[in-house]
Amino acid sequence: MTNLQIAVDGPAGSGKSTVAKKIAEQLRITYLDTGAMYRAVTYKALEAEIDLNDQAALKAVVDQMTICFNQNSIIVDGLDVSEAIRTQRVTLNVSLVSADAYVRSEMVKRQQAIANGQSVIMDGRDIGTTVLPNASYKFFLVADPRERARRRLAELSAKGFTGDLDEIVADIIRRDTFDSNREVSPLKKAEDAIEIDTTDLTIEEVIEVILKAVRS
Ligand code: CDP
Repeated sequence: MTNLQIAVDGPAGSGKSTVAKKIAEQLRITYLDTGAMYRAVTYKALEAEIDLNDQAALKAVVDQMTICFNQNSIIVDGLDVSEAIRTQRVTLNVSLVSADAYVRSEMVKRQQAIANGQSVIMDGRDIGTTVLPNASYKFFLVADPRERARRRLAELSAKGFTGDLDEIVADIIRRDTFDSNREVSPLKKAEDAIEIDTTDLTIEEVIEVILKAVRS
């Protein structure tokens, strides 16, 4: 049987990770959260207190760190950083770090190595265009920014955090703009991706659309 590769791309809060995680469970394939990897690099760079615009310093951080996944946890240099990579500080800086060409080429290499030889569903910004250009299925999820911010706020509240809706809307728009305009593999819909507007859809409905396409 050939391996199944499913690419799910889209802007912040479009529902990619929730949907991709559930589809992985249903299809019993590996889920890879590529955003978590860029967050992990950002976390390490902040911890090392380097200048995030210093390419050589970023390279040193990337070259020295190990990243692996255990169930849905992300382990960096042997420590579980699943919670630590979701802080506001990391979120505010991740677009800058992930725009770095070396950071991207290293992460893409590691992502492709994980996809090699097994069935995967990956979510990110450049999966359909750069990481898995020959993926069997490509989806591009979009949604109204306010709705995306509402979802992010609900996620935060579920974890016991608070947040301000307007601030989250502003952060989402700032990151979308930055991610879409960077030079190296910007956030962009692959030509052969199926676009799904999730604004008025439930998670279950989005999953249904994807599974229908995959099973047909
Ligand atoms: O907050 P959200 O879950 O939407 O973002 P994420 O998937 O955790 O990704 C965080 C950031 O990593 C994005 O804003 C991008 O700057 C970057 N990223 C990327 O450049 N390429 C990817 N394949 C995934 C994430």
